[in-house]
Amino acid sequence: MNKMTLKFRSEMENEAFARISVCAFLAPLHPSFEELMEIKTIISEAVTNAIIHGYDSSPVKTVKVEVGYDENGCITMIISDSGNGIADVKKALEPLYTSKADQERSGMGMTIMQTFSDSFDVISCVKEGTSVVIQKKLQRIQ
Ligand SMILES: Nc1ncnc2c1ncn2[C@@H]1O[C@H](COP(=O)(O)OP(=O)(O)OP(=O)(O)O)[C@@H](O)[C@H]1O
Ligand SMILES: [Mg+2]
Repeated sequence: MNKMTLKFRSEMENEAFARISVCAFLAPLHPSFEELMEIKTIISEAVTNAIIHGYDSSPVKTVKVEVGYDENGCITMIISDSGNGIADVKKALEPLYTSKADQERSGMGMTIMQTFSDSFDVISCVKEGTSVVIQKKLQRIQ
């Protein structure tokens, strides 16, 4: 088991930092190109949600990304904010549901993350924050 934690300001420019750092951390597992693309997308969507929805785009809060993996290539990713929280998680997970339609969001981030994950959970409490807990197993054809 190996693990790491990233904590960074809720600046949108840090989304790329998180995505690239997670890929660098997972490099010893030799994920396929497709798996890397999926992991990058998951991190990108979750961090963007934390900043835009969790913190209403305030750049001075903190986003946390924790990543771990085991010897079987099973990756756990937890993306957390201490922001607004989600009142109705079931509704938030519906494809095309967005609370920010005015900002040209499509409401597909959660659905995309779910598609690319083997296990996907959202733990959220209103006014306390949200954690997205994702597990993804690498295929590792050798
Ligand atoms: N970290 C979060 N904190 C608070 N609310 C969230 C968070 N993540 C998601 N949500 C809520 O869940 C809804 C659905 O999220 P989803 O990522 O699927 O769509 P979106 O972000 O609105 O649009 P898109 O991701 O397609 O740009 C959001 O509109 C928001 O209301
Ligand atoms: Mg989103």
